[in-house]
Amino acid sequence: MTDDNEAKLPPDEEVSLTAEVSADVAPVVEEFMAEAAQANEEEAEAIANDSNIEADAGIAGEEFLNSSQVGPYISFEHVCKSFGDFVVLEDVSFFVNPGETLCILGRSGVGKSVSLQILMGFLKPDQGTVLVAGQDISGLSEREMQEVRRKVTMVFQNGALFDSISVGENVAFPLRERRTMEEDQIRQVVKGLLEMVGVAGMEDLLPSDLSTGMKRSVAIARALAAQPSAVLYDEPTTMVDPLMAHLLGDLIQRLKVQLHLTSIVVTHDMRFAQKLADRVVFLHEGKAHFFGTMEEMRSSKDPVLQEFLALDALILPN
Ligand SMILES: Nc1ncnc2c1ncn2[C@@H]1O[C@H](COP(=O)(O)OP(=O)(O)O)[C@@H](O)[C@H]1O
Ligand SMILES: [Mg+2]
Repeated sequence: MTDDNEAKLPPDEEVSLTAEVSADVAPVVEEFMAEAAQANEEEAEAIANDSNIEADAGIAGEEFLNSSQVGPYISFEHVCKSFGDFVVLEDVSFFVNPGETLCILGRSGVGKSVSLQILMGFLKPDQGTVLVAGQDISGLSEREMQEVRRKVTMVFQNGALFDSISVGENVAFPLRERRTMEEDQIRQVVKGLLEMVGVAGMEDLLPSDLSTGMKRSVAIARALAAQPSAVLYDEPTTMVDPLMAHLLGDLIQRLKVQLHLTSIVVTHDMRFAQKLADRVVFLHEGKAHFFGTMEEMRSSKDPVLQEFLALDALILPN
């Protein structure tokens, strides 16, 4: 009997995103999340159809059928970036498909944050092609880039919250920008999102009242309020206690499974990568030294990868 009961417990990633949301706001929050999930599914389908059309243009018959798979949602193709004479990225390529999670790994100073800044259009690459939300961002105006940032949003290491307004108003910000929601709806969604990310009831506090982990949770809630299709996280577990790290990991995984969110997670926490990553890219000396699955990385005989994994095992004993 006990076995039966245990078998019925859903895995972490299937525990409803809104499981922690109080009953009074649950209907509004559930509708908000369902809307986001549906939009993401439709967008992934649209990208799949687009790549079918492109494939169709040049080839026919069986060859077309074989080539008609989903294109990446975000990618770097041969990206180079230097600051003056200092080369940070040299011919770096990787991709993440719609609904998948990519972890960017590598030592400090290797260009992980720079890569995210390039994806957000805050920094321009010197060479190479950058695809975000399925489109080449190189020719986009600042205004068009703002549209892309509505779909692909970033959670900064420090949260980058607005310091002078309350936690609740920070999360309400993207909701107000839509100009379609009633004040009471906004209040309910804000309450529900804060409960969802584990910082219930903190609406009236200021960001300066919060710990690093809490700030990051609020930043995630604010990102979700924009109903994004992809979220880029810069070191979400750095300087966060193990319990909060676990909570954030579960949350990122549930967002992937239940909202079909595409994610890029910069981390040097290998357990985090193991839990979340469909693929990892390991940056080393300016290059994408490795791009593949965690399994492939672990079984690789490459001395640089082995050293990184061994070092990590020392820092994070099992
Ligand atoms: N705006 C900038 N101007 C000059 N150098 C920068 C700039 N941003 C980052 N760098 C340098 O680029 C390198 C990579 O930085 P970063 O991507 O932040 O590393 P990390 O992998 O730790 O996130 C570092 O040496 C950093 O000092
Ligand atoms: Mg960084």
